[in-house]
Amino acid sequence: MKFFIDTANLDEIREAYDLGILDGVTTNPSLMAKEGITGEENVRAHYKTICDIVDDKVSAEVISTDYEGMIREGKELAKIDDKIVVKIPMTKDGIKAIKYFSNAGIRTNCTLVFSAGQAILAAKAGATYLSPFVGRLDDISFDGLQLIEQIVHIYRTYEFETQVLAASVRHSMHLIKCAEIGADVVTCPLKVITGLLNHPLTDSGLAQFLADHAKAAGK
Ligand code: E4P
Repeated sequence: MKFFIDTANLDEIREAYDLGILDGVTTNPSLMAKEGITGEENVRAHYKTICDIVDDKVSAEVISTDYEGMIREGKELAKIDDKIVVKIPMTKDGIKAIKYFSNAGIRTNCTLVFSAGQAILAAKAGATYLSPFVGRLDDISFDGLQLIEQIVHIYRTYEFETQVLAASVRHSMHLIKCAEIGADVVTCPLKVITGLLNHPLTDSGLAQFLADHAKAAGK
């Protein structure tokens, strides 16, 4: 399973990369706005900086909602770096744009996915990644993890090449369950990744080891 970090914050991306376990980055317009990145030039420069930090894929989302705009914008984003994956919303024009990019050999990430039907359409159009939003489904009392399970089953049954990228992953249990289910990729904030480190028995065990060592050494 691959780990992507879901942020546009450069310090967080560097921290996750320094852990040695990061496979890529996803962003969205809200995450870019949170970092105060606006204007085409600044956005492009920010994506380039992110690409220079990490070794693998960086999802960059189009703002356009019409087919022509998505194609124009997606082509510009794809030119920034080989690591760029063009992130496109799950709409009618979005599906047409994913098909276009798939034919053109440009990787895509179909975002804002909330149903198995949407997942089937994206795979048929040739999306490289599919982003079902686990946490946002949980927020409205639907089972986000159950959707991941359903999509993984459908994709495996028909041998679709589209990778299931579990998004809107809000806590460590979400991430662990996605791993159990067989999601190809999980994208989440830094705190979810570092949260995997924590266990009280690790802390108390280490404290005991160090105390025993100090006692034996007569300190
Ligand atoms: C996916 O690519 C989105 O950027 C993200 O995972 C959304 O997460 P949120 O629902 O916590 O905002």
